[in-house]
Amino acid sequence: MSGDGASGDGSGGMGAIPDRPTAAKGELMLRTFAFPADANPAGDIFGGWLLGQMDIAGASLARRRAHGRVATVAIAQMTFKLPVFVGDEVSCYCSIVRVGSTSVTIDVEAWARRGDGDDLARVTEGVFTYVALGADRRARQIPK
Ligand SMILES: CC(C)(COP(=O)(O)OP(=O)(O)OC[C@H]1O[C@@H](n2cnc3c(N)ncnc32)[C@H](O)[C@@H]1OP(=O)(O)O)[C@@H](O)C(=O)NCCC(=O)NCCS
Repeated sequence: MSGDGASGDGSGGMGAIPDRPTAAKGELMLRTFAFPADANPAGDIFGGWLLGQMDIAGASLARRRAHGRVATVAIAQMTFKLPVFVGDEVSCYCSIVRVGSTSVTIDVEAWARRGDGDDLARVTEGVFTYVALGADRRARQIPK
């Protein structure tokens, strides 16, 4: 086991592949793989790539809550806890922390499954704020 010691739920019985880290908060909004093209010159995954995946995942939940188009207005408390490596499976879990008049704030956690193994590690966390946009591209009220 790596990272902060999270493990899969193992609920599927003997031989089951753990799917969800027990410590993950929120809903799975995105799962992808880290490709060589996403790496920096040292061979580790570029933080900007991971931030982009988290932004897409958070926007997906925000869009659902806002019932329409959203734009990212702020990213706060971004913490890169552990590196992501080429070949890792990356999953983004999202939860709504605040709904304002025109904005939705989402906590996004990224978890990596290392290579072909079952080890899961929380690699990154951030708080993303999205503003609901109308057709005129201005902020609009979010339905209650
Ligand atoms: C989104 C946008 C239309 C909002 O403009 P605006 O109406 O002048 O913004 P406001 O200051 O009224 O804020 C709108 C909401 O965002 C929130 N907000 C604004 N800046 C924020 C910040 N730095 N952190 C957290 N929330 C913020 C406000 O609190 C408000 O939320 P509320 O209505 O729920 O209280 C405008 O900022 C914009 O077009 N930004 C670019 C968005 C974009 O292109 N994102 C992709 C980047 S590549």
